[in-house]
Amino acid sequence: MPSLLEPSRLMNIPLVDLKIQYRSLAAEIQQAVQRAMERADFILGSEVSAFEEEFAAFCGAKYAVGLATGTDALHLGLRACGIGPGDEVITAPNSFIATAAAITFSGATPVFADIDPRTFNLDPVAVEQAITPRTRAIVPVHLYGQPADMDALQALARRYDLKIIEDACQAHGAEYKGQRVGSLGDVAAFSFYPGKNLGAYGDGGAAVTSDPQIAETLRMLRNYGQSRKYHHDFLAFNSRLDNLQAAILRVKLRHMDAWNRKRRKAAAHYTRLLAPEGMPVPRAMPEVSHVYHLYVIRSTRRDELLRFLNERGIGAGIHYPIPIHLQSAYAALGGRPGDFPNAESACREVLSLPLFPEITRDQIETICSAIREFQAANGGALAA
Ligand SMILES: Cc1ncc(COP(=O)(O)O)c(C=O)c1O
Repeated sequence: MPSLLEPSRLMNIPLVDLKIQYRSLAAEIQQAVQRAMERADFILGSEVSAFEEEFAAFCGAKYAVGLATGTDALHLGLRACGIGPGDEVITAPNSFIATAAAITFSGATPVFADIDPRTFNLDPVAVEQAITPRTRAIVPVHLYGQPADMDALQALARRYDLKIIEDACQAHGAEYKGQRVGSLGDVAAFSFYPGKNLGAYGDGGAAVTSDPQIAETLRMLRNYGQSRKYHHDFLAFNSRLDNLQAAILRVKLRHMDAWNRKRRKAAAHYTRLLAPEGMPVPRAMPEVSHVYHLYVIRSTRRDELLRFLNERGIGAGIHYPIPIHLQSAYAALGGRPGDFPNAESACREVLSLPLFPEITRDQIETICSAIREFQAANGGALAA
């Protein structure tokens, strides 16, 4: 529908601006891709192995295994930990569906536990209540770029002999008590979907671990179960990180720490402008370094506010509108409204504002003025 606003009031601020970042990196990326093409080692080539080493070091872990997607990183990570049919795996209901789907693909059953409404991450008390004799693993999601409550989850894993597979798909470079995600569990899954903090120019993913056995199993799982060429020890998959994507990711990895700093600065600017208005802004726990993959506020009039912003050309979004236990795809698990009240109210109220390393203070101020305008017109009823 065409906007009824005057063109001068249309802002065109996307949720994520990938073009501006490409323009700043174009020469470096083109050189890297050209070099990789000239080498012509297209499948599991030298760019993949170099990226794996560099990305493992970035995470403070020993091994990274480049895979086709973040979904595969979760799925194969679970399999490499020995998770399979008959097992239960506890995770959060307010994640992207891939988190639960990967558990299902491994043959196990996803079991949901409610979240801490302050952080949107798994509540360890709810996790403990969900543990049964079949529980084998926990998949904490470091949602929006904030690490989950890992001390409490690790304590549960020790007490009940569970594996931890981190869903770090939104949290490249985030830290918990000074330790990077990717080094906080048995294995961690990362996505390089283009809009992520570290994004490829297509699909990509990696599983990160410090366990040599898990790393070796992952290398076989992504490559038809091969130990040597044409020797297949078990049936497995073709899920290899593309060599050209690895060349691009190596260039971008060098900028990651600076980009995450810029994201934190942009988030702090939003918070400075929105918190005094009484708006529920994201809360970073003191023990974490949040990398703000998304800057998420809450509103009881979320859908109206979303429309208001979108009509002005501001690319706000919702991550995610329907909790996984209420998705049609999971009807067979028998989830009902009311099962996970904190996750369900988050799904009704969360709103992601534009955030990317290059976002300007002016753009943030424009977005906050629009929110203020909405609030003034709606009696200030934004608080959850
Ligand atoms: C939390 C979370 N888990 C898993 C995934 C799946 O990653 P991919 O799209 O690379 O398969 C994503 C992103 O898409 C995600 O945000």
